[in-house]
Amino acid sequence: MEYKAKILGTGSFLPERVVTNQELEKLVDTTDEWIVSRSGIKRRHIAGDHETTAGLAEQACLRAMESAGVKPVDIDMVVVATATSDDVFPSTASVLQHKLGLRNVACFDVTAACAGFNHGISIVDQYIKTGFIKHALVVGCEILSRNIDWTDRSTCVLFGDGAGAIVLGRSSDEGIMSTHLHCDGSQHDILHAPNLLIQRNSKETPFIKMEGREVFKHAVTRLGELVDETLSANNLTRDDLDWLVPHQANIRIIGAMAKKLNMSMEKVVVTLDDQGNTSAASIPLALDIAVKDGRIKRGDLILLESFGGGLVWGSALVRF
Ligand code: UT7
Repeated sequence: MEYKAKILGTGSFLPERVVTNQELEKLVDTTDEWIVSRSGIKRRHIAGDHETTAGLAEQACLRAMESAGVKPVDIDMVVVATATSDDVFPSTASVLQHKLGLRNVACFDVTAACAGFNHGISIVDQYIKTGFIKHALVVGCEILSRNIDWTDRSTCVLFGDGAGAIVLGRSSDEGIMSTHLHCDGSQHDILHAPNLLIQRNSKETPFIKMEGREVFKHAVTRLGELVDETLSANNLTRDDLDWLVPHQANIRIIGAMAKKLNMSMEKVVVTLDDQGNTSAASIPLALDIAVKDGRIKRGDLILLESFGGGLVWGSALVRF
């Protein structure tokens, strides 16, 4: 028998400290006008020294479990998408399991950069569909501010910190309708952050490096293909969609997808202006915000899509 996986609840958490574009003007040779016009970002939340990736995730998960009406004892699996785990090992998921007081269930991280959350949904969807588990937490959480060269204006203005989570649960209703994941490893070096603990002789610094213009071009092309692939796999057209919840990297990329889908920007959840690019956390953060403020309602058809370093890209079509 095949079961269905449904989003039972959502939660998110942002660090309190907000850094505006105006503050960054004092740090590097940039302007608010450049940042807003090229990316759409106005401010971002930055974790304090006392905060950890697992700690942000914990808050998001507590909120997601509360909104789903499930208890720690109900959780059968935790999949954490992050590129900024507090430790090389153990995984953030292991630490999170302890913080949340879960049973000794499977907990692991997935590394798929900004597309990590879609990878997490896809993995858990398979486990629920086949009947192996009933409830799982899928989490996206990042403290990217610690992987950034704050003297590099081409990257430091783009990223932010935060966490989002969903509870996926077994259901007889339609939920996750399909997921689609892709990778083009030939482009792995145009967006990367080296692990200098391993690459001891590297001349590199441990920070995020990005050939922005190149990544941008790949993102628009690949996400365009992905949107078509996702709709056609479900025999749907773009008119069937109620909401687009995209990864939040650049308002021009998001706008290009909205145009392709013939969607008004009113039907696209945008958090980029307030949060910057929070990598794996951006989709669950945007989803939670739009669910909690009442825009996204039960029964809506939502497309989640993301693109990031790898290069990797992924989507999920969701009946909420
Ligand atoms: O989340 C994972 C996936 N990531 C993405 O999808 C990000 C994709 N890329 C982008 O979003 C855009 O490429 C950026 C926002 C990163 C950059 O926008 P762009 O329009 O592609 O600008 P650019 O990199 O081509 O740079 C244009 C100019 C350059 O100057 P010259 O060479 O034309 O004289 C840069 O040096 O802007 C300059 N520049 C800046 N100027 C002011 C770069 N960063 C800044 C800055 N302030 N912060």
